[in-house]
Amino acid sequence: MSVDIKPEWLPDLQEYRAEPRLDSVARSFTSANRGMFVVHALREEIFPQHPRRVRLLDVGVGKQGYYFYCSYEPYMIAAALEGAGINYQMDIVDTDSAVIADLKKRRKIFFPAQYLGDLDHRDAWLSYLAATKQKARSRDKSDSVEPTSLTSPEDLRAQWDIMANLLVARVPNSFVSKLQDGGIKPIQGDIATARIGQRGRYNLIACVNVLYLLSESGQKLAFYNMANSLEKDGLLIMNDLRRGRMPSETGKVFTTSPILDFYGGWLTEEKMKDLGLVPYKQLESTGGNVTFSFKKI
Ligand SMILES: C[S@@+](CC[C@H](N)C(=O)[O-])C[C@H]1O[C@@H](n2cnc3c(N)ncnc32)[C@H](O)[C@@H]1O
Repeated sequence: MSVDIKPEWLPDLQEYRAEPRLDSVARSFTSANRGMFVVHALREEIFPQHPRRVRLLDVGVGKQGYYFYCSYEPYMIAAALEGAGINYQMDIVDTDSAVIADLKKRRKIFFPAQYLGDLDHRDAWLSYLAATKQKARSRDKSDSVEPTSLTSPEDLRAQWDIMANLLVARVPNSFVSKLQDGGIKPIQGDIATARIGQRGRYNLIACVNVLYLLSESGQKLAFYNMANSLEKDGLLIMNDLRRGRMPSETGKVFTTSPILDFYGGWLTEEKMKDLGLVPYKQLESTGGNVTFSFKKI
């Protein structure tokens, strides 16, 4: 179904652009286990359908993990594809220019040895190493890691412990080569308005822990934008951990996740239909979380 006709409930773009934005402080949290939300969806749903080539979009990368700066999600995705021997093209959208700049130059990722004691984190890290056919090594002087700034003494102590015991691995080889030859395209922009799908529609769009950061207008525009750039039978997956409305540091409020049944959001089946989407199924995630999926019809 084409959704070139805009649903009448779609917010006005200019009004959305004029809305105040949330502060950026709490926006970029991530960790290795969260990348598994997408990896599970790839393994369960995408690989059996597209065993040779996958075109995908990763929305909202994240950079602030475990008391230091490091992204995971796009690397975990690339590792899973590479490990399964599947060629891919990946677009990556993030509002944060620092996230995009980091993606372009990062060649190593870091993992706290302490987190090997946590099943979800351990599983994510070991699955990454296996897919990229490498062993981790301990961090040495040649590995510079940027700590996040913290204020509480407890956090500073935890940060010190973590930074003293980091494991290091390279980012997937295919990630580096595809950045160079254009197979991976980082785009700085807001998913509500970004120009996506320019080089073909996607088999999978992953939008994990992002939509709760947008206003309701932003969520609606983002869903419209993403639905328009999915190919027929393509999957949109999303996972928002936030339940209900939460105050941020500046007193502005995070919007609840759009999912109606779980969180009281705006996304009715009628609106999904207007976008050419049908609810598909809840997919496996780590830590008792649910990944929602929608299929383009
Ligand atoms: C909480 S992090 C989630 C990171 C990762 N997906 C995960 O689950 O670990 C949210 C990311 O989305 C990005 N982001 C926030 N608003 C966005 C928007 N409107 N469009 C695209 N990216 C956005 C932030 O810069 C940040 O990198």
